Amino acid sequence: MDRFLITGGKKLRGTVHISGSKNAALPILVATLLTDDKCTLHRVPNLRDVRTTLKILEYLGKKVTYQNNTVTVEANGPLKKDLPYELVKQMRASFWVAGPLLARFHEADIPLPGGCAIGVRPVDIHLKGFEQLGATCQVESGNVLISARELKPAQIVLRFPSVGATQNLLMCACLIPGETILENTAKEPEVDDVILFLNKMGAQIKTDEKGRLIIHGVQKMHGAEHTVVADRIETGSFILAAAATRGDVTVADCVPEHNAILLSDLREAGFTLDVTDTAVRVHAYEGEINPVRIRTAPYPGFATDLQAPWMTLMTLCNGTAEIDEDIFENRFMHAPELVRMGARIYTEKSVARVTGVKNLSAAHVQASDLRGGFALVMAGLCAEGETEVERVYHIDRGYENLEQKLTALGAQIRRYNPDKDEF
Ligand code: UD1
Repeated sequence: MDRFLITGGKKLRGTVHISGSKNAALPILVATLLTDDKCTLHRVPNLRDVRTTLKILEYLGKKVTYQNNTVTVEANGPLKKDLPYELVKQMRASFWVAGPLLARFHEADIPLPGGCAIGVRPVDIHLKGFEQLGATCQVESGNVLISARELKPAQIVLRFPSVGATQNLLMCACLIPGETILENTAKEPEVDDVILFLNKMGAQIKTDEKGRLIIHGVQKMHGAEHTVVADRIETGSFILAAAATRGDVTVADCVPEHNAILLSDLREAGFTLDVTDTAVRVHAYEGEINPVRIRTAPYPGFATDLQAPWMTLMTLCNGTAEIDEDIFENRFMHAPELVRMGARIYTEKSVARVTGVKNLSAAHVQASDLRGGFALVMAGLCAEGETEVERVYHIDRGYENLEQKLTALGAQIRRYNPDKDEF
């Protein structure tokens, strides 16, 4: 398994270009199941989760090409209505094929995604929504069989604004005749990008003045071309890495307003930022880093996916910063690894208290999830000495060309595989 070796203590400098959003690309790829026509998607990041999604589309019967970040998807015969566990267990987002399959064939047979490292992550909101749209959901031998004689429009209030459930129900409702209303939906920019794509495919989705999604079902969807929105989590990750290494970095080709809370928290921490419509420059800053309390929340609140990198920054603050993780129940697995690097962190249930230290020290650490893995890379970039990060496969799920991008900013980071490489 690949590892990263990082020689820390180098300030990042230069410009980094942000890739297309993983969390928008995945549901948009899934949405191509709503038509047999050809769909062309640009700026699709070359990531493990994307490659898994392409395998899923191929398994279901689509013909897929992927070159230079452009994907084409088109019909290649009739579609299957089931997925094997092998594909679902690699990525929870696989479950989202249920919405389009149910809409088109009134049937989907999908393994229930299990728990994952960052929490239980049930799919009850998805299933309750499908039931309100007229489907029955039966769990048998680990699979959920979702079927309907007839689907009907409904007014659905989500008990929590789940990103995945919003997208799954939206995709399903596009082909149900009549008006479906979704309330208390996720407002993440990735959801907006999915809506943009669905409307390009012929869907009729609008947001009303109360923020509800109003979907007028159409008979048929058609092919469309779309460029995926910039990845706001990759954007935030590079901004935080620049700040923590006390570097001077321009994060380009992004949408700064999607990270508004992060930028405001960073200014409170002491950093100077220049923001344009498409870029953020983090200025070199040698002063003390102020402790700033954050609480993760659905968009536009502080993104749970940036909580771990934020924690790495706060390990270097001049006081004690509190972090409340209110989205996932077990998302502090990076904390004990950061402690091995000299950080002072005390966690209790959903709260972490981080007391800043002068320097982090290099250590041998393990990534246990995607964003926690990036937090360790960030810590390695700050620490004096050589840090080894194991289980890079977690990080490969969500950061395109990470070591190349960091190297271009002056970091010393290299990938090696102890089972294959001479060392
Ligand atoms: C998506 C993102 C993930 C991000 C998360 C929250 C993708 C591929 N992943 O995940 O990076 O961290 O949004 O911003 O886009 N929940 C239920 N029942 C459900 C569905 C969700 O209880 O049916 C709970 C989850 O356990 C979790 C919370 O709701 O505690 C948020 O989950 P959700 O918004 O659904 O996250 P995902 O769509 O899985």
